[in-house]
Amino acid sequence: MRNLKQYAFIGIIMTIIVVISCKTRFDTTTSTYKAVASPKAFERGKELAFSNCAGCHYDHSVNKFIGTQIHDVPGIAGKVFSANLTHSKTNGIAPKYSDAEIRYLLKTGIARDGRYMAYMLRPNMAEEDINAIIVYLRSDDPAVSAADTTVGLTHFTFIGKAYMDMEAKPIRYKANVKMPAKNDAIANGYYLIDNLGCFHCHSQSLKSIDYQYPDKTKGYLAGGIKFKGENGTEIYASNITPDKNTGIGNYTEADFLKALKYGVAPDRKLKIPMPKFTMLKDSEINAIYAYLQTVQPKYNVVKKM
Ligand code: HEC
Ligand code: HEC
Repeated sequence: MRNLKQYAFIGIIMTIIVVISCKTRFDTTTSTYKAVASPKAFERGKELAFSNCAGCHYDHSVNKFIGTQIHDVPGIAGKVFSANLTHSKTNGIAPKYSDAEIRYLLKTGIARDGRYMAYMLRPNMAEEDINAIIVYLRSDDPAVSAADTTVGLTHFTFIGKAYMDMEAKPIRYKANVKMPAKNDAIANGYYLIDNLGCFHCHSQSLKSIDYQYPDKTKGYLAGGIKFKGENGTEIYASNITPDKNTGIGNYTEADFLKALKYGVAPDRKLKIPMPKFTMLKDSEINAIYAYLQTVQPKYNVVKKM
């Protein structure tokens, strides 16, 4: 009897997992939106692609957006590779997408085949910036010119799939988001912390990111997430609240600029996965700095490697 009950129990659990892992597709978009190209949109799009998408899609050995492996996924869940975003007819993913589908992916996390993927979810990105990124991806910049290579295809194990489906939380498309006012440094700083994904890496856990309301994220900007760094070594994302003892409360504006642009902090050289934001304008970095001064300082000791 007891054995039978146990089997029944296992059976129910298995059924639940299978049911959950079948519900993998969401509705996609029917919009016919087309990006509007201009030299200004191209420049802005390039800046954003290098300051945001590059972190996961750019290969520095070939200087192209051919995709990379994402190492911060536990092996038990499977292997995750970002996509080739170049114009390659065989391996490029962006060319298969319509402009509306790229916009939808960035705003809601839903891919063109209905899969949910949160990596590039940017619900609060302004229409103008989304347009700029698409213009850049369609451009003849050498970094997106066709490269018929592939780094590999994402493969989730059964466990990885069940987990991804449980965590799938597509976001309702938020239309007509505007850029913050040009002269409002603090609002621009918050916009960049959000849209460049700083708060994804610099808060408590990659599993509790609040994509819609970034500053509601657990442990917002107080750091501590462990990443795989160079050669698989461990490294922890810093506390970037203005706490004087454990955060960046002693940073000057000039220190902050050096850290972001050149990867040099007052006490050390910063290591990957902290990106070098070489394309950001000084005024934008200063805006992020100004915003960070308004964040509640949090005492949280993070190991420096
Ligand atoms: C945090 C890492 C990360 C960032 C940042 C990122 N991506 Fe991705 N991207 C991924 C991963 C991982 C995949 C593949 C997911 C999969 O295969 O399940 C992907 C897939 C894609 C795809 C293909 C989706 C499909 O249907 O397979 C497109 C298009 C894309 N990304 C565009 C972008 C753009 C544009 C940006 C910048 C605005 C960006 N990504 C930023 C990690 C990232
Ligand atoms: C992919 C994850 C990731 C992203 C995205 C990221 N960081 Fe970092 N950041 C890190 C890690 C990891 C470190 C620690 C590097 C080290 O200790 O060598 C770090 C370090 C820093 C430091 C140095 C602080 C100190 O300890 O002195 C600052 C400042 C910083 N990041 C700000 C930012 C800002 C602002 C953004 C967005 C524009 C950002 N980071 C985006 C992972 C990230």
